[in-house]
Amino acid sequence: MEEELLSNKELKRKKTIAILTSGGDAPGMNGAIRAVTRTAISAGYNVLGVRRGYHGLWRGDIIDLDSRSVSDILHRGGTFLMTARSDTFATEEGLDKAVGMTEIFNIDVLVAIGGDGTARGAKSLADKGVPVIVIPATIDNDIGATEYSLGFDTALNTAIQAIDKLRDTASSHERCSVVEVMGRKSGYIALGVGVASGAEVLLVPEEDFDFDDDIMLTLIKDRNAGKRHYIVVMAEGVGNASDMAKLIEERTGIETRSTQLGYLQRGGAPSFRDRWISSLMGVRAVQAIIDGRLNRMIIHKNGDCNDMDLAEALATGKRSLEDSLEMADTITI
Ligand code: F6P
Repeated sequence: MEEELLSNKELKRKKTIAILTSGGDAPGMNGAIRAVTRTAISAGYNVLGVRRGYHGLWRGDIIDLDSRSVSDILHRGGTFLMTARSDTFATEEGLDKAVGMTEIFNIDVLVAIGGDGTARGAKSLADKGVPVIVIPATIDNDIGATEYSLGFDTALNTAIQAIDKLRDTASSHERCSVVEVMGRKSGYIALGVGVASGAEVLLVPEEDFDFDDDIMLTLIKDRNAGKRHYIVVMAEGVGNASDMAKLIEERTGIETRSTQLGYLQRGGAPSFRDRWISSLMGVRAVQAIIDGRLNRMIIHKNGDCNDMDLAEALATGKRSLEDSLEMADTITI
């Protein structure tokens, strides 16, 4: 009897979707939170926001969300739910505590918004029986399964604008400007920024380079051809901009300065693309839940968003940069 009552109560209980953002913040995270919240509420779900990522999950840092609590965030960078990189959650004990919290808060599905680490965290929860959906968001755009991860476009635009400014100074002083961009071990940001800002030299971790042939000679030839500025875009995974600048000045005699764009690339108002795709991904996440497709990653492919099995998504290798690098080699001189 008691069991029957319990299961009736369970049946009557509104299903609950919880949302968290984890890892490095990325413009577009707020758009995804907003779209998940509003789509879920209109479909009859109860929605919770987990603050401070997985760190907040194991500590039960969880708030109610309604349609109004996600007003006024679409155009803002960062994440209104805040984020963290949690050492505790990475331990077996932390993971178990997080699973316990999902039970205490009656969380039926967790939507985790973030990069590769976030997706792996979600997979560990799924392996413990917590249903999850991952929305890819990292300025690095380095998740193999999806052609796009939220924040990439805004970060590129920010970096390009910065380089346009740096070029004015480089040109006036006839200097070389070495610009280090983020991306961890991948060169997607550097490649995009290098091509879109017309850099003379582009360095990514995916491609070996020879200092004499690929950097020194290119810059010397450019100088002899009458160029007044030289932009070198390098991914952080290649090394340090200030060391590179010293070497370039020493070997070419061209006055050289370095700039590390750093966290400037992570913040700022999301571009149209990030607002649009974050909205679409959020809606698709809830559609997957409604249709019972769980433990999935929302992916962007050929201009649309769909979902794929999370384990499969995590096993997908890196997207190749080869063709784009070839194009860059031709036009980046
Ligand atoms: O993954 C996003 C990213 O901004 C990388 O490009 C960068 O290497 C890293 O995060 C920096 O992380 P943190 O915020 O922990 O310093």
